[in-house]
Amino acid sequence: MTVDLLLGLQWGDEGKGKIVDVLTSSYDIIARFQGGPNAGHTLEFEGNKHVLHTIPSGIFHPKAVNIIGNGVVIDPVIFIQEIENLAPYGINFNEKLLISKKAHLILPTHRLLDAASEASKGKAKIGSTLKGIGPTYMDKTGRNGIRVGDIFSPDWDEKYQKLTQKHMDMLKGFEGSIEYDFEEMETVFLKNIKALKKFKIVDSEHYLHEAQKAGKKILAEGAQGSLLDVDFGTYPFVTSSTTTAAGACTGLGIAPNKIKDVFGIFKAYTTRVGSGPFPTELFDEDGETMGRVGNEFGATTGRSRRCGWLDLVALKYSIKINGVTQLMMMKGDVLSGFSRIKVCTAYKTATGVQEYLPYDISDQDIHPIYEELPGWKEDLTQMTDVNEFPKTFLDYIDYIEKALETPIKIVSVGPDRAQTIYR
Ligand code: GDP
Ligand code: IMO
Ligand code: MG
Repeated sequence: MTVDLLLGLQWGDEGKGKIVDVLTSSYDIIARFQGGPNAGHTLEFEGNKHVLHTIPSGIFHPKAVNIIGNGVVIDPVIFIQEIENLAPYGINFNEKLLISKKAHLILPTHRLLDAASEASKGKAKIGSTLKGIGPTYMDKTGRNGIRVGDIFSPDWDEKYQKLTQKHMDMLKGFEGSIEYDFEEMETVFLKNIKALKKFKIVDSEHYLHEAQKAGKKILAEGAQGSLLDVDFGTYPFVTSSTTTAAGACTGLGIAPNKIKDVFGIFKAYTTRVGSGPFPTELFDEDGETMGRVGNEFGATTGRSRRCGWLDLVALKYSIKINGVTQLMMMKGDVLSGFSRIKVCTAYKTATGVQEYLPYDISDQDIHPIYEELPGWKEDLTQMTDVNEFPKTFLDYIDYIEKALETPIKIVSVGPDRAQTIYR
């Protein structure tokens, strides 16, 4: 068995990009299985900082093949821009990047529908990244979508025009207006569709089956986080794909019994960008400090991320849904200097104390019940071994590990590739 999964256990931005990059040297193939350019995966190494949206985070390594799986939705405009941003690295994309024929395309009108839908919701808006994710997945499951493989088809133009016209009619049904220059959007889109044709577009599920047969090591890279999963997240404030482990099966064509390890990534605290419930959110100086020290601004939209204490109730839920076998704790360095650190162990609701996520946490008055742990003052960012960690930080890790009943194998103490410590 040669397939491992890596996914976020909170509301996204846990540090998936960094860890995929770190782990890539042990894998032959890195395969993104869902989401689209709503993702922003940040990598830092040798003084460079890179944000990837569609391209898997193994792209900087000399050998690994990177696959954009069928479960991903691709905006050709953003994809080509990402490719151009990578020009200084001289990457041979023909050898190192494969795109599934079955991945769905984000059209300009999908983005317009996303914007119109959000504008019409007023205060109830999801806080979408407005990249057209929801409308594209709706067309996929509604069996109207256009796939990457269709760009070579003789009836591409007809398909594109038909769907675009349908979207234009739908746009008329939304309240409120959004401003756009469709002609300009379409010109840019069609130019980038042409550019997309030059990439290696394949039956990625077959490629992955052959690779498994040949004993290659595969790492599936998730986007977003489990609490944004369309089924198990804080619905309706979620994204439109399966961000949990099952998404790797449907998004790559990997059989469930081929999956070995499931790496679950979490921050030592919690963040969320966009709307929706967040029981441990802080509106005080502590939250402000986390945001400032952790540089908590969205890698895709630049919006500031809401910050709060670690939520073990939510994490336990994510671990169960995904079958996590190993944990990776990110950004412990950001908590240096807090005299006390809180961890949510249960919720107090109108119906009593509960240790699992309620059906609709948005409608309930939820009060987190906290355990307080002593903090640490030391700067962790230069440390290279667990033996250097202050005792109270080691105690914090042990406490979480015991509560989650899952080993924490990696502790990250800074954004750089090198700031990664194995336990
Ligand atoms: P992703 O979407 O899960 O890949 O995460 P993002 O890249 O959106 O956000 C994580 C942010 O935290 C990025 O700016 C990373 O460079 C940064 N980061 C990752 N790990 C650490 C860490 O251990 N400490 C600190 N201070 N920053 C980190
Ligand atoms: P990565 O992969 C954090 C959030 C949006 C919004 C909701 C729906 O970088 O962790 P969508 O654009 O999908 O319609 O937005 O989901 N969201 C993310 N939050 N990290 C992400 O990706 C996200 N992708 C979507 O902010 O609340
Ligand atoms: Mg991100």
